[in-house]
Amino acid sequence: MPAMAETLVRGGTVVTEAGQRRADVLCRDGRVAAVGEALEASPGAEIVDAGGCFVLPGGVDPHTHLQLPTMGTVVADDFLSGTAAAAAGGTTTLLDFVGPERGQSPLEALAQWQAWAARSTVDYGLHMTVSWWGERFAAEMAPLVREHGVTSYKFFLAYKGGLMLPDEQIVEGFVRCRELGALPQVHAENGELIAYLQQELLARGVTGPEGHPLSRPPQLEGEATLRAVTMAEVVGVPLYVVHVSAAEAAEAIGRARQRGVKIVGETLPGFLAIDDSVYADPDFDVAAGHVMSPPYRPKGHQEALWRALEAGALSTTGTDHCCFTTAQKRAGADRFTRIPNGCGGVEDRLHVLWHLGVNGGRLTPERFVALTSSNAARAFNLWPRKGSLEVGADADVVVLDPARTKTLSARTQHQRTDFSVWEGREVRGVVVHTLARGRHVWADGDLRAEAGSGRYLPRAPFGPVYQGAIG
Ligand code: URP
Ligand code: ZN
Ligand code: ZN
Ligand code: ZN
Repeated sequence: MPAMAETLVRGGTVVTEAGQRRADVLCRDGRVAAVGEALEASPGAEIVDAGGCFVLPGGVDPHTHLQLPTMGTVVADDFLSGTAAAAAGGTTTLLDFVGPERGQSPLEALAQWQAWAARSTVDYGLHMTVSWWGERFAAEMAPLVREHGVTSYKFFLAYKGGLMLPDEQIVEGFVRCRELGALPQVHAENGELIAYLQQELLARGVTGPEGHPLSRPPQLEGEATLRAVTMAEVVGVPLYVVHVSAAEAAEAIGRARQRGVKIVGETLPGFLAIDDSVYADPDFDVAAGHVMSPPYRPKGHQEALWRALEAGALSTTGTDHCCFTTAQKRAGADRFTRIPNGCGGVEDRLHVLWHLGVNGGRLTPERFVALTSSNAARAFNLWPRKGSLEVGADADVVVLDPARTKTLSARTQHQRTDFSVWEGREVRGVVVHTLARGRHVWADGDLRAEAGSGRYLPRAPFGPVYQGAIG
């Protein structure tokens, strides 16, 4: 190892959101030291051959749930396995959600998450779930924002009797975010109507996973999204809408953005490709494996989301990585309302989006970078340190071979579960190398991610979304 750790990524086509060109990328001491033609490295530097490949800023996944205790269990991936899987799939930054228990001090919950997240292999920031509301929560947001760099807060319009907050408290929370320069996020589904439909379905004897999408129809997401957007617009605070799955929701966001409202919409690769027919699978484990909220949507919504991405109504992609094993999902064998909600994907996001988006002719490589990295970095005030390859940026670098193919499968993934929503799908365009702040963590099939090598990313308030809608 040279005194100054140096890696030269040589001979590839460098792609950022702004353009592409043939160039080498020289990484020194964890940062991008130079981008240009025929760069020379110091003796002893490691050379990564990127000939025939694209060289991209590392992926930024703005939405993961690692080590989360939920629905009587704990998700299958912890901060070690989840971040290692991310690295294997070209994602070098995660934003995970701290989840205080009801009434628990959010500062105390943050300390718990920081202890767990200390084992991360890639850099991470933390959002806070507003799992309850009151004076103490509002008061603690000041040190959370100003001293701890937790500048994004997720409010739930769904999960009645659990995380759901009434509109009055959401408005108070949005006002508090505006005062502190924090970015509110919303899980937008109408929780009152979901609770009503769940009871009605169970009373009619619909207890299997097919009841899950029936209890959460797309218009409930459309209504809640419009309501959240309206609350943010009236309060005068920017808004980030997580996991947009329905055409109605994408439309509400697109219209607000056209009026100049500062809204950022996120979707997930699964919502672009998978429809609700998965819930009719006769195998409970397959149907339950796809249970997440919002659910996969009827045919037609996928195409609408692609158009929303192309038109700029949606700006980021996350995974909502929230993995459970088949055994964990069986907790809901008797009734769909007890199936733990969530699917994996932190390892698959770049592969699926490159394959469907770039190979499919729907995204340019530049737009791919914006949607997988730069826009999320900007939304959460990590840009240009993350999401760019500017000199001085963190040396988070992905080498993607556009000719190589790979079959996605639970048998070969690093995500710690025996299920994949992408089981058996072949993708063309494979991440062959990942550098995380200059460390070579994924080297053509060799996963070298080390526990504890990721760092916490505190974020400053009043980020770029306060100046305007991004992406
Ligand atoms: O079903 C899901 N998405 N589980 C994770 C928590 C959330 O709502 O984002
Ligand atoms: Zn959610
Ligand atoms: Zn989530
Ligand atoms: Zn190496």
